[in-house]
Amino acid sequence: METSLIILKPDAVQRGLMGQIIARFEQKGLRFVGMKFMMVPLEIAEKHYAEHKGKPFYDGLIQFVTSSPVLVLAIRGIDAVSVCRKLIGATNGRKAEPGTIRGDFGMSGGFNMIHGSDSPESAERELALWFDAAELVEYDRTIEKWVYDPSDL
Ligand code: RTP
Ligand code: MG
Repeated sequence: METSLIILKPDAVQRGLMGQIIARFEQKGLRFVGMKFMMVPLEIAEKHYAEHKGKPFYDGLIQFVTSSPVLVLAIRGIDAVSVCRKLIGATNGRKAEPGTIRGDFGMSGGFNMIHGSDSPESAERELALWFDAAELVEYDRTIEKWVYDPSDL
């Protein structure tokens, strides 16, 4: 099982899209193991987006993600990192495929509603940045025996 770090960005919260976006991950069969609603401290925003420091959009990105609350999620499942990226879609909502979150709800490259870890290594780094270990909830869901076919794990 992998765990991905997902953030519903300020535009998703302000536009009232949290429920519809969360529903997509839930319907897919993924398990929520962490969730918190917060203003993003500047230091966490800068660490989270450190790879983009120096790019033309960096300052605007930091301003955007710290401007209004976000919903941070830890989402677990087999291949959860790549599965979540597929559900999210391409970075720019105008280019993202219909059926994806960005493709269905967005028209922007900057205000693109959601972040998802881009690799298992990024997920580990980001989970440690956003959640204390005690904030991730370990539990079993009996429905998962109907989500995963044991013969194709
Ligand atoms: P994310 O990290 O947020 O999941 O998005 P991503 O992998 O699809 O895109 P990435 O290249 O990592 O860019 C991070 C975020 O920066 C903003 N951005 N704005 N105005 C622009 O040209 C531009 N390019 C990127 C977006 O909010 C993007 O999600
Ligand atoms: Mg990225």
